Amino acid sequence: MSLRATFDISLGTPSGRLLEEIDATVWEQLLLATRMPRHPWLYSAFCTLEIDSPQSRVVVLRSVDRDQRVIRFFTDLRSPKIQNILENPKISWLLFDATSLIQVRLQGEATIASDRQMLDACWESVDAVSRRNYMGLQPPSSSCNLPSANLSPEFVVRVPTLEETEPAIENFAVVETVIHSMEWLYLKPSGHLRMSARYWPHHELTWLEP
Ligand SMILES: Cc1cc2nc3c(=O)[nH]c(=O)nc-3n(C[C@H](O)[C@H](O)[C@H](O)COP(=O)(O)O)c2cc1C
Repeated sequence: MSLRATFDISLGTPSGRLLEEIDATVWEQLLLATRMPRHPWLYSAFCTLEIDSPQSRVVVLRSVDRDQRVIRFFTDLRSPKIQNILENPKISWLLFDATSLIQVRLQGEATIASDRQMLDACWESVDAVSRRNYMGLQPPSSSCNLPSANLSPEFVVRVPTLEETEPAIENFAVVETVIHSMEWLYLKPSGHLRMSARYWPHHELTWLEP
């Protein structure tokens, strides 16, 4: 079902419970995005601050914990976004669906996961093709003189075996973002709708003028 159809169903909820329903639907859809390869929010913009300059990039939503309001993605431990997070953990996400014209903005704080068991489980979930993303010979974002896949030449022409990918676990990082607030905007011909949710330090849901 499209995001538009899903939120249209939510909008049928009695007005006294409507804000809670939209908030719950946003989190259901975030969870669904990690399970449905074609979900419009699977690839979303993750934003950090580099000193005082905003930096955005697309990442893949990997897991969502609705109760804890945590979203995770995988990255290379050597990538600049890791340094951004260590220097300033404040982050935002931007999720958008061009078909439904629904935008969600999330704000919160990021940490680099250190739980070995969780990291190992996440690593196990990555297939050999994708593990190549962590096999860069140079740290990501290093400058180079020629177009480069940043891989050992043999892994450009063939997929490594799982065994060959194992050393790359050293470069594998899971970024965990705890979401403190959310804003939902739905562009509708009958009038746009907008609400916001605060989860921390207190819980508050409210309508906003679009
Ligand atoms: C469709 C798509 C999906 C991507 N997924 C990820 C991802 O899950 N993790 C990641 O670190 N980079 C991902 N990237 C690359 C990032 O957008 C970015 O270029 C890279 O991580 C370097 O970011 P940084 O220099 O800010 O650290 C993806 C890019 C695209 C176009």
